[in-house]
Amino acid sequence: MKDRSTRDEIIRVEQVCFAYPGQQAQVLDAVNLSVGAGEFLAILGHNGSGKSTLAKLLNALFVPSSGKVYVDGIDTGDADRVWDVRRVCGMVFQNPDNQLVATVVEEDVAFGLENLGIPAPEIRPRVEDALAAVGMGEYALSAPHMLSGGQKQRIAIAGVLAMRPRVIVFDEATAMLDPAGRDSVMDVVLRLCREEGITMVWITHFMEEAALADRLILMDQGRVAMEGAPREVFARVEAVRALGLDVPEMAELGQRLNKRGLELPEGILTTREMVVALCRLKSGT
Ligand SMILES: Nc1ncnc2c1ncn2[C@@H]1O[C@H](COP(=O)(O)OP(=O)(O)O)[C@@H](O)[C@H]1O
Ligand SMILES: [Mg+2]
Repeated sequence: MKDRSTRDEIIRVEQVCFAYPGQQAQVLDAVNLSVGAGEFLAILGHNGSGKSTLAKLLNALFVPSSGKVYVDGIDTGDADRVWDVRRVCGMVFQNPDNQLVATVVEEDVAFGLENLGIPAPEIRPRVEDALAAVGMGEYALSAPHMLSGGQKQRIAIAGVLAMRPRVIVFDEATAMLDPAGRDSVMDVVLRLCREEGITMVWITHFMEEAALADRLILMDQGRVAMEGAPREVFARVEAVRALGLDVPEMAELGQRLNKRGLELPEGILTTREMVVALCRLKSGT
């Protein structure tokens, strides 16, 4: 995989401020952000910190009050190119039930393509590919309302994938799912990122999901408060807590054990890493 510093830039957010119409309050305050093509970027932040607003600016649902957002080089403020932006950058939202519109899965996945005016013979193979990519090929003729939450979210992802986007923004797409559904969605998204090179912007409040990202940003009051690789960010337990967020359980345990005099390496995030580190300490290697 390419290092972030050598990746091409796919999203650029420059000095973006945003206030909702008729409101004084700046919901985003001079946000700068660059996302590399193929990167998995997670965005964390307590409620009201501006994550969903930022997400909608990436997809030209909103345009900045000041500053610029470029998606694949396209200025989202260019009214003639709104649909080009949305073709490049798809979105998946929290509630799967609000995103599915048809009574049959394959029709749902085809819906966006029909709206884009894709010729009929091209639609079928794209729908089949998209359903296969999310592991839902067998459900093409099922009724969406019969599916589990995780399956519904994967259908919503297939609907976006069928448009062949370069970026997908997920706004707490696993928040309403059970643990199995969350895992199934996370597996699909990680694979699409690693194998297809699709850039993922993953807004979440699950620290374990964020730990899997290439890079994290932490939002606070409409600003980017912290940024870095998950290991760097979560090693700063107190700073993360000060922003109203938790760190993964194992990062916290590592810090507590070190305060009691154990010498564990910094940056432990998962149970597996903790077990390995403790065994090394015990055996003295
Ligand atoms: N449609 C809206 N109109 C006015 N204010 C809004 C609207 N949506 C969100 N806000 C406000 O903008 C701020 C950021 O909200 P949001 O982007 O939804 O944050 P997050 O997704 O991090 O919870 C909050 O103070 C929220 O109350
Ligand atoms: Mg939100």
